[in-house]
Formats: sequence, C-alpha cells, structure tokens
Amino acid sequence: MEIHRFEKLWLVAAFVLIAAFIATIVYGSLVAGVSMVSDDGGTVDPDDITASENFREPGVYQAGDGEYDVYVEARQFAFVPGTNSPIRVPANTEVTFYITSSDVTHGFDLVGTNVNTMVIPGQVAQLTVEFDETGTHHIVCHEYCGAAHHDMEGTVEVVAQENFDTEEVTEA
Ligand code: CUA
Repeated sequence: MEIHRFEKLWLVAAFVLIAAFIATIVYGSLVAGVSMVSDDGGTVDPDDITASENFREPGVYQAGDGEYDVYVEARQFAFVPGTNSPIRVPANTEVTFYITSSDVTHGFDLVGTNVNTMVIPGQVAQLTVEFDETGTHHIVCHEYCGAAHHDMEGTVEVVAQENFDTEEVTEA
C-alpha cells in the first residue's frame, strides 16, 4: 500500500507530539517536583473543623526540629490565618500546610511557588514545601466561591530562621 509522503509526515509528527507530551509529564514529576496534592490529610466535619483529630485550631505549629505545620481554614472570603494576619514561616524548613474549607470550595494558590490546591469542604488538602528564599507570597483563591471571590486573598511571609520568633508558633 502506498502511503502518501504528507500522510507519513503527519504520522511522524503525531508520534513526536505524543512522545513530547509524555516527556513533559515525566520531566514534571521527576525533575520539576510537580505532584498531586496528598489526601493523607483525611476528612473533617466542615461544620466543626477542629472537632476532628485531623485538624487543629488554625495557625502555625512547630512539628519538630525544622518542621512546621500550618493549619488554614478557608471560608467566604478569607484565609485564617493569611488574610487578616500573614502566615509567617521560616525559610529552609519543612512546612506542611493542612487546608480545609468550612463552607464552599475554595482555592489556595501561592503565587510564584508550586503550592496550589483546591480546598474542598470536609477534605483536608495536605502539602509539604520548603521555601529556599525569604520573601512574601500572595495567596489567591482561584475557585469561584461567591460574590467576593475576587477579594479572597492573603499573604505568606517567609522569614530568615534567625528572624523567626518562636512565640509565633503554638507548641505541638
Ligand atoms: Cu474563596 Cu474564591
């Protein structure tokens, strides 16, 4: 059977594209550190998020030497903490976020980082990250959650370890 030259060209191009798409996924997961948000955080009762063992009073907790846990409640239209007071964490430590919603689905995107998750009522999104540099990251809600969705934002401040005041954390 005779295959037209252009037909062959398109066949090759299609396979090259498929290989390239697979390569980007492999690169993303092995090199760029892209991963799925862990569901290890488990579930909570959205009507009473701190009643569950999986969730604490929102805030920053020292989890160990150089390890911090950050519990965040997302609700219409604020991150607690994050919106009224910035979330302060030290650089070059292991920071694990536990984020849940007490009303509707929200988003939690740390601009300039790969921290990005949907926040679903009843589900705790768990992400561990290490900030290499000090600086301020904007938190954006990127899931439409109601009339003031566009105003739902917050701040994460990454400070040098020597400037981090341990008074700011709750002992675990
Ligand atoms: Cu919360 Cu949009």
